[in-house]
Amino acid sequence: MESMIRDIKLAPSGHDKIEWVKNFMPVMAAIDEEFSKTKPFAGKKMVITLHLEAKTAYMAEIFQHAGAEVAITGSNPLSTQDDIAAALVEDGLNVFAWHGCTEEEYFTFIDKALDIKPDIIIDDGGDLVHLLHTKRRELLENIIGGSEETTTGVHRLRGLAKEGKLEFPMIAANDAYMKFLFDNRYGTGQSTWDGIMRTTNLVIAGKNVVISGYGWCGKGGAMRARGLGANVIITEVDPIKAIEAVFDGFRVMPMDEAAKVGDIFLTLTGDKDVIRDRHFAVMKNGAMMANSGHFDCEINIPELDRASVSRRTVRNNIEEFKMADGRKLYLLAEGRLVNLAAGDGHPAEIMDLSFAVQFFSAIHLLEHGKDMKPDVYLMPEEINTKIAERKLKALGVSIDVLTPEQRAYLNLE
Ligand SMILES: NC(=O)c1ccc[n+]([C@@H]2O[C@H](COP(=O)([O-])OP(=O)(O)OC[C@H]3O[C@@H](n4cnc5c(N)ncnc54)[C@H](O)[C@@H]3O)[C@@H](O)[C@H]2O)c1
Repeated sequence: MESMIRDIKLAPSGHDKIEWVKNFMPVMAAIDEEFSKTKPFAGKKMVITLHLEAKTAYMAEIFQHAGAEVAITGSNPLSTQDDIAAALVEDGLNVFAWHGCTEEEYFTFIDKALDIKPDIIIDDGGDLVHLLHTKRRELLENIIGGSEETTTGVHRLRGLAKEGKLEFPMIAANDAYMKFLFDNRYGTGQSTWDGIMRTTNLVIAGKNVVISGYGWCGKGGAMRARGLGANVIITEVDPIKAIEAVFDGFRVMPMDEAAKVGDIFLTLTGDKDVIRDRHFAVMKNGAMMANSGHFDCEINIPELDRASVSRRTVRNNIEEFKMADGRKLYLLAEGRLVNLAAGDGHPAEIMDLSFAVQFFSAIHLLEHGKDMKPDVYLMPEEINTKIAERKLKALGVSIDVLTPEQRAYLNLE
């Protein structure tokens, strides 16, 4: 296969970045050591559609060391790092991605990667699964199964399964404890603020930060915003999550109210139109908006464009929208995942866990996929425990062990 990347000469910096993250992913390093010897994926082909940065690259190489032939694409036009793509090509993977690709190129890349005829897939957001169920249906019979990295993709899969249209088993890797408790919460929490801060170079302390969605990502975003000294306001649609936010010590109000007082708005809902025309109409001069949910529809950008009299880029990854009354509103990273489009994504120590979930999900599919009906599955519980044990060992943390009497008392026998 002929890879499609920006520039192979960028590879040295990509290799350096991959080497750096390896230092902080001990669970993946142990997986690499173990499975590069046994090569369980020998003869198998994989398509991976994930944010193409250093941690993803390391996982893709581990699958390759474990015997798989791998084709990889990005899962967002702005999250691909061209030097990483180049490094992977040098290491013998089939790569179809470049930073800033058009929507058409983005889908062409996934289409090209699928020419490898995968046995197993890893998706992030559902576009790969979508293409397999529409344009590339001829490949369905070959697929053992796959796994999905994020909340939005899992929602799309469950929709497909409910309509009886899902054609192969998919593991909701996102819904594994060892993924969402750490990746969605601490990973998104830290990396989103890293993306916002490096993009704006402004102080967070003292600002009114409006966070939409108090799910796993929203909790992380709110927790870290508070740590940075912000006055955090939560908007929610779920009454239970809203109460949780109140008892976590945050102010909760509808977006119609929050829009008037916010300095920085951050959407993390997986929903669309969370911030829209009537909100732009009442925002303060200088208000900033960013999204860290999967798709760029949480902030209604076409409505923002229509409501403004001019639009220009004022700093890398920051667009200024001037309103008729002279107010300036700012949009970060085109409303795409700000932690990836304007940053490097989750910290390596976090992706050490998420990608261990992906690796063991793929092993599970390899061993049991043929017997699994098309549906959305959770990763087996014991794998969560296995990953947690490996991480604790790497962290040098030991914990207590139940005595036989305690096991009996807790009815665990
Ligand atoms: N940036 C990243 O790196 C990253 C990482 C993981 C997940 N994600 C994405 O972030 C999004 C959220 O994921 P999650 O795991 O937190 O999901 P979640 O389901 O745990 O939480 C989403 C929350 O948003 C709320 N919500 C829905 N519509 C709303 C609206 N209009 N206004 C206010 N609140 C609303 C829901 O009630 C829910 O509590 C998804 O799109 C997911 O794919 C991004």
